[in-house]
Amino acid sequence: MSKVKEEVQNEVSAQQRLEQHLRTVAHLGHVEIGVTKFEDSLWFYTEVLGLVLTEKEEGRAYLRAWQDFDHYTLVLQESETSEVNRMSWRVATEESLDLFEKYLKDSNIDFQRIESGQKKALGDAIHFKSPSGLPIQLYWKKELFETDDPKLQSQLPSHPSKYNVKGVSPRRFDHVNIMVDDVKAEQEWWTDFLGIHHRYYIQNEEDTRLGSWLSRTNIAHEIAFMRNANQNGAKFHHLAYFLDSPDELIRAANIMAENGIEIEWGPGKHGTSGAQFIYVFEPSGHRVELWTGGFLIFSPDWKAIEWTSDVGELGLEMWGSKPPKSYFTYGVDIGE
Ligand SMILES: [Fe+2]
Repeated sequence: MSKVKEEVQNEVSAQQRLEQHLRTVAHLGHVEIGVTKFEDSLWFYTEVLGLVLTEKEEGRAYLRAWQDFDHYTLVLQESETSEVNRMSWRVATEESLDLFEKYLKDSNIDFQRIESGQKKALGDAIHFKSPSGLPIQLYWKKELFETDDPKLQSQLPSHPSKYNVKGVSPRRFDHVNIMVDDVKAEQEWWTDFLGIHHRYYIQNEEDTRLGSWLSRTNIAHEIAFMRNANQNGAKFHHLAYFLDSPDELIRAANIMAENGIEIEWGPGKHGTSGAQFIYVFEPSGHRVELWTGGFLIFSPDWKAIEWTSDVGELGLEMWGSKPPKSYFTYGVDIGE
């Protein structure tokens, strides 16, 4: 190979490496869900869970936990079916969005470009679907939460709003979980295509992947995939909020019981992440997890931890409680 040719090739591969480095997500930003009982769900999220209502329109509400810095991290949309409409990820840099658009074109994946301002507080975005049909949104710009309402405004500069005294009052939106038929295939796509690291997984005796947990940030996971025991396609399993302590988790369980909110499972402790949890059903049928604890990950070359079948149950719950059957079969629909 001539020296000039070699230099050109090196330059091309350097460019490719840079593009690959920039073509990644930064973190999970928010989730948009359809709810059949809009007012009842709004009551749950504001009065029982204690999220802050940022804005409300006809049939739509924008919400956030008290230390979520964004304008919103949850969108409720009045709908005929309870479903997930969009899982929204911030990309790593301003250039990343265009690089993803190019990559989607090159990969022959259908996508839609959403112009800045079409969605509340959001800049340009791209909509497309994963192999299991999960609706993804990528964006770079999103307004931060700002308020001059004295009831919300905190004197502490690190607090985008005051610690909320209402309801459970989780610190922040944490993660989403989806049931899919083929966990391994879905995980590999999310890792390869979006750059979301694989953190840990559970295999069964037949070596089938039962669950995979992934994150781009250093929390144990921002998205998880669990095997749908019915093998009837993707279902949205739950959205989750983070609490500061086990005391707050017990308090949350009491608040749920007082307000007639069904606790499906817990309090319990996941062996995989080390986080303690409860799962509840909100009035429109979405499963919501509240959790606390869990390990953090700092290594840039993390290798996914395998939980084999002999310890898999401890991974799911390490104190001995068993999940109800609904936990492996029930989820709401995936929206169009
Ligand atoms: Fe979870």
